[in-house]
Amino acid sequence: MKIGIIGAGNIGGNLTRRFTAVGHDVSVANSRGPETLKALAEETGATPVRVEDAARGAEVVVVTVPLKAVPDLPSGLFDGAAEGLVVIDTGNYYPRQRDGRIAGIEDEGLTESRWTERHLGHPVIKAFNGTYAQDLLDRPRPAGDPGRLALPVAGDDEAAKAKVRALIDEIGFDTVDAGGLDDSWRQQPGTPVYGLRAGTRAVTEALAQAPKERPADFRG
Ligand SMILES: NC(=O)c1ccc[n+]([C@@H]2O[C@H](COP(=O)([O-])OP(=O)(O)OC[C@H]3O[C@@H](n4cnc5c(N)ncnc54)[C@H](OP(=O)(O)O)[C@@H]3O)[C@@H](O)[C@H]2O)c1
Repeated sequence: MKIGIIGAGNIGGNLTRRFTAVGHDVSVANSRGPETLKALAEETGATPVRVEDAARGAEVVVVTVPLKAVPDLPSGLFDGAAEGLVVIDTGNYYPRQRDGRIAGIEDEGLTESRWTERHLGHPVIKAFNGTYAQDLLDRPRPAGDPGRLALPVAGDDEAAKAKVRALIDEIGFDTVDAGGLDDSWRQQPGTPVYGLRAGTRAVTEALAQAPKERPADFRG
C-alpha cells in the first residue's frame, strides 16, 4: 500500500521504519525538505518528499507533526491522494510545554483530533497518540502473543477505522475501538490509557475509566 507520512520525528520516523519493514511503499516529509531525510531513506527504503507531495497516490496519510504546526501545513495537502484516502492523526495537545493555548480545544471543547480534522479539511482517525515512539520498534508481537500491546483507535468512519486497525495489526499491535472522534478525549494526554502498555482488556477498561474533564497539566 502507498502510505504518506507527514512528520519524520519520533513517531513519523518509527512509523516509516515499521511500515517499510512490512512491505509498504512509504513517502515521508518533514518541514526542512527531502534532502534532510537521506539517512532515513537509506535506512528504510522510504522516499523522501516535500510535504506537498507526501499524499500523492497514497491510500493512507499519517499526520504526525506537533499540534501547533497543523495550521501551518499547506492547503491542498491531500490533492492527488488515492480515492478513499484515510488520514491518521497521532497528535497530542501540550499547551504548556509546546503548543501554546488553543482556544478551539479549551473554549469550544473540541477534542484534539476534531480540531486537527477541521484544520486539515479531511476526516481523521486518531491512533498512536498514546504510544511511546520507541515501543513501535521494540514491542511489536505476533497476533495472539499474550504480551501483545493494544492501541486505542477512534474515528467516525468505520471503514477507515477498520483499515487503520488492520494496518496496526500488520505492524505488531492489537487495537481497541475507542469510538467516534468526539469520544477521543478518552485517549488524550493525562487519561488512564495514555501511555498504558497493556493488552486489549486493560486498554478497554482504561478507556471506560477516563474522566471527562481535561487534566490541569494539559490546560493552557
Ligand atoms: N514522541 C512520542 O513518543 C509521541 C507518541 C505519541 C504521539 N506523539 C504525538 O505525535 C506528534 C508528533 O510527535 P513527535 O514526537 O514525532 O514529534 P517530533 O519528534 O518533534 O517531530 C515532528 C516532525 O514534524 C515535522 N514538522 C513540524 N512542523 C512541520 C510542518 N509545518 N510541515 C511539515 N513537517 C513539520 C518536523 O520536521 P522538522 O524536523 O524538519 O522540523 C519533524 O519531522 C505530536 O503531536 C506528539 O504529541 C508523540
